[in-house]
Amino acid sequence: MKLLLDCLEGKKTQRASFWFMRQAGRYLPEYREIRASLNGFLDLCYNPEKATEVTLQPIRRFDMDAAIIFSDILVIPHSFGLKLDYVEKEGPLLETVSEEKDLLKLDAAHFEKKLAPVYETLSKTRSLLPKEKTLIGFAGAPWTLACYMIDGRGKKGFEATRKKLFSDPKFFDRLMEILERSIVEHLSLQIQAGAEVVQLFDSWAGLLPATHIQKYVIDSHNRITDSLKKKHPETPIIGFPKGLGYHYPYYARETKMNGIGVDMHTPIETISSANSKKAYQGNLDPLLLVGNLSDMKHEVARLKTAMREKRFIFNLGHGMVPETPIEHVTALCTMLKESA
Ligand code: CP3
Repeated sequence: MKLLLDCLEGKKTQRASFWFMRQAGRYLPEYREIRASLNGFLDLCYNPEKATEVTLQPIRRFDMDAAIIFSDILVIPHSFGLKLDYVEKEGPLLETVSEEKDLLKLDAAHFEKKLAPVYETLSKTRSLLPKEKTLIGFAGAPWTLACYMIDGRGKKGFEATRKKLFSDPKFFDRLMEILERSIVEHLSLQIQAGAEVVQLFDSWAGLLPATHIQKYVIDSHNRITDSLKKKHPETPIIGFPKGLGYHYPYYARETKMNGIGVDMHTPIETISSANSKKAYQGNLDPLLLVGNLSDMKHEVARLKTAMREKRFIFNLGHGMVPETPIEHVTALCTMLKESA
C-alpha cells in the first residue's frame, strides 16, 4: 500500500500521507556532514551515491511516506550552459539571459547525458527505498525558472523579470517555450528512472499580475501536463503554484494536476472544498516547526480535523528551514501517524 499514490489516485486511505518540502537539508547533522565533505552544493546534486544517501536520510530518521529526490530546480538552466554558484547565506547566483542572442546560445537538449547523475540518483534511490514509500521527482515551472534566469538570484520581487515580461513579451514567450520543452524532457527522464510522482514548483507564481496568470501559469502548466500525460499517463503530477491566493480554486479547476500544493497563506480546507476531484497538499507554516511545540501541535490537530474527509497530503506551506529542531520534526511525524 502506497499512501501518497493512493491519495493522488483518489483511493481512500486510512490516514493522510505526509512528506515535507526540503525534508533533506541543513537541519540534519548527517546532511551537513556529507555536504561539508564536498566542494559545494552542486557537487552533491551531481554525485549519485551521496545524493541518494541524503535523499534517504530523512526517511530513515522520520519514516515519511515519500522521498523527494535530492536535486535543485536550477539544474535545468545549469544544463543549458549558464554558470551557477550557490553562495553561503545568499543562495543561488545564476548567469542571466536578457536578449534573443542569449537564448540562441542555450543548449536546451541532451538532458539524458548532461543530467545523467540526477537520473542515476533516482534509480539508485528507488532500489534502496522501502517499496511502500513513494519516490517524488520534480522541476521548477517555467515562470519560476525564468525569474532566476533573468534576475540571476533570489531577489525579493524579481523586478528585472517582471519588467522584462512587460517590455519584451516576444523574448519572454520564446524563453517560456524553451523552458516548457526542457521541463517535460527532464520530468519524463525522471519518471523513466523511477520517479512515481512529479511535482512542479512554481515558487514565484504569486508575483505575476492577475492578468498574466492564465497565460504563464494555467496554460503553461497545462501544456506541460498534457505532454507528460501523453508519455506517462499513469504518473500523478502535483502543481505547487505558491502565492496564487485568490486564483487557487481556478487553478485547481482549470489544470490537469492530480494534486494541488497549497502555501501557508491560503486556507487549504476552503480551497479543497471548492473542487473535491483533486488531492490537496500542504500547508503548515514551516516556522511553526521552529517555534514552541504546543502551538505546532495545536495547528496540526486543527489541520487534520479540517481535512479529515478530504483527499489530503500533509506537507508544509513551503520548505523546511535550517534552524528546525529535529525533536519537533519527530513530534510532528508521531502525530501524523496517529490515524484520525
Ligand atoms: O525538498 C527536498 O528535500 C529536495 C531538494 C530540493 C532542494 N531545492 C535542495 C536545496 C528541492 C525540491 C529544491 C527546490 C528549489 N530550489 C526551489 C523550489 C522550492 C522553493 O523553495 O520555493 C527553489 C526556488 C530552489 C532554488 C534554490 N536552491 C534556492 C533559492 C536556494 C537557497 C535557499 C537555501 O535554502 O539556501 C537553493 C539551495 C538549496 N536547494 C539547498 C537545498 C538543500 C541548500 C543548499 C545547501 O545545502 O547549502
